Amino acid sequence: MDAIEKLMFQRRSIRKYKNEPLPEDLIQDMLRCATHAPSPSNRQPVRFVRVKSPHYRSKLQDALTMGHARLLERRKAAGASARLKNRINAYLRYSEVMFQSPVLFAVGTCTQTIGFATHLAKAGLIQKDQRTGKDLDMTVGLALKAVMLKAQALGAGSCILTAPLVFIRDVENVLDLEDISINCFLTLGWADHDPPRPPRLSLEQIVRVI
Ligand SMILES: Cc1cc2nc3c(=O)[nH]c(=O)nc-3n(C[C@H](O)[C@H](O)[C@H](O)COP(=O)(O)O)c2cc1C
Repeated sequence: MDAIEKLMFQRRSIRKYKNEPLPEDLIQDMLRCATHAPSPSNRQPVRFVRVKSPHYRSKLQDALTMGHARLLERRKAAGASARLKNRINAYLRYSEVMFQSPVLFAVGTCTQTIGFATHLAKAGLIQKDQRTGKDLDMTVGLALKAVMLKAQALGAGSCILTAPLVFIRDVENVLDLEDISINCFLTLGWADHDPPRPPRLSLEQIVRVI
């Protein structure tokens, strides 16, 4: 196994971090890797918003708690199953880890980004710009992967989180972001557990030749 394979195979989503700060220069090294990720027309639309202040962390926590209560209330009103309640509570557990991580980012893209198809749609040549959203999502993923692999190379842990966005309404408004559309959160820190590798599909299962 070569070095890059090792990094990819050994990386795990980390949900428990040591109460030890991650040195700022290491965080910068990780983020620098994101600047090398590919993007459509090299527009580099991905932005990492570090959520560091107690003010914004507690705003997020409040929004999460309120969103959880709101969903449980709705489930009750809709007469939905106890299983759904368990699921909502599981999503909450998979969200709350973000507050236990020493480093938290909200990750997204500039709302002003124009994609390949935007000009064609504006000119009326195609009905709707159906590509740009997907391109931006892919671009965020590539930038995240760069940061996560560098974290792994530096011996640090990371985890992507989207479960909080099930609960937090209008996260951009909560974080006072006018020019960024948020895709997910990213936690970073020193791992305090060693999760087992989850089962993976075989090549035969993921590759189709036509
Ligand atoms: C788009 C995306 C969203 C995710 N959201 C969450 C989340 O909200 N909470 C969480 O604990 N893990 C989250 N994860 C991590 C996955 O659960 C994890 O990648 C998966 O279980 C495989 O485990 P591994 O990353 O250790 O290989 C997310 C991963 C991705 C790619």
